[in-house]
Amino acid sequence: MRIIKDIASLQTFLKPLKQAAKTIGFVPTMGNLHDGHLSLVEASKKQADITVVSIFVNPAQFGANEDLATYPRTFEEDCRQLQQLQADVVFAPDNKEIYPDDVKKHTQVKISHLSEQLCGITRPVFFQGITTVVCKLFNIVQPDLAFFGEKDYQQLLCIKQMVNDLYIPVAIIGVPTVREESGLAMSSRNNYLSAEKKQKAALLQQQLQWLCAQVQAGGKDYTNLEDQVKQQLDNTGFKSDYISIRRQSDLATPEKNDNELIILAAAMLDNTRLIDNITFKKKDELCN
Ligand code: PAF
Repeated sequence: MRIIKDIASLQTFLKPLKQAAKTIGFVPTMGNLHDGHLSLVEASKKQADITVVSIFVNPAQFGANEDLATYPRTFEEDCRQLQQLQADVVFAPDNKEIYPDDVKKHTQVKISHLSEQLCGITRPVFFQGITTVVCKLFNIVQPDLAFFGEKDYQQLLCIKQMVNDLYIPVAIIGVPTVREESGLAMSSRNNYLSAEKKQKAALLQQQLQWLCAQVQAGGKDYTNLEDQVKQQLDNTGFKSDYISIRRQSDLATPEKNDNELIILAAAMLDNTRLIDNITFKKKDELCN
C-alpha cells in the first residue's frame, strides 16, 4: 500500500493504471476509521481494480464552534487497518495541498435547496464544505466509482446531485450503515461518548424504528409523530435537533402516494452530535 501526500505524486502513480484501463474506486474519509469506513473500502475492493482512500480532515466543513481542533486523528492506526484490507493507496494531503490560498476566497461548490435543510439549518457551512472538497478530490483522483455511507444520507444525496449537475464522470455508490450491536450507527464522533452514553445513544435508532412502525401501521399525522419522538428523546437526556419523515429520493415532504420514505434524525447527547436514519417502504394500501 502506498501512502501519498501530494497531488502530483498521486496522479503520477495513477496515470499508468488508468492507461491500462484499471478501474479506480475512491473512498474519501476524514480518518479515525471504524467498521463503517472499512465496509466502504471492502465495497471498493470488490467493485474496482484499484482502491484509493483519502484521509483529510476538511476544515471547510466545520463551523466556527465545532470540533475541528479535537476531531480524532489516528493516522497510523488508520493506515494499519487499510493495509490489512489491502487498499492500494492512502492519499493524505495537508491543508496547504488542498487549500493553497485563503479558503475564504476559494471557489465553493454549493448544492442549493438540498443542502439548506435538515443538518444544513444548524450547520450552515457543512454541506458546502463537503461538496467543495469532494469535488476537488474527484478532480484530483478522477475515480470511476466513489463510495459513501448511507448513514450520512443528506451528504450522499448532495454528492449525487453535484456529480449529476456538474457532469462529473463518477458513479456514486451508497453503502449501508454499519451498526454497533446496540443498533448505534458507527461514527468517529461516538468516540466522544462514555460507554454508558454509547448505550444511551442507541435509543436514537430505537426511536426511529418506533416511528417507522407507526407510519407502517397507518399513522398519518407525521408532524405529531415526529414531535412525540423529539419529546421522548429530550426526556431521556438528548437535545433533539430534527426528526423528519421525508421522501427517499430527494428529501422532499412526502406526498400521499409516495411509498419510499426515510426518517432522518439529528440529536445532541452531551456535546456529541449524532445523526441516523431509517429507510422503508410504506405499504401500498397506505398510499391511496
Ligand atoms: O463523510 C466524511 O467523512 C466527509 O464528509 C467527507 C466525505 C470525507 C468529506 O470531507
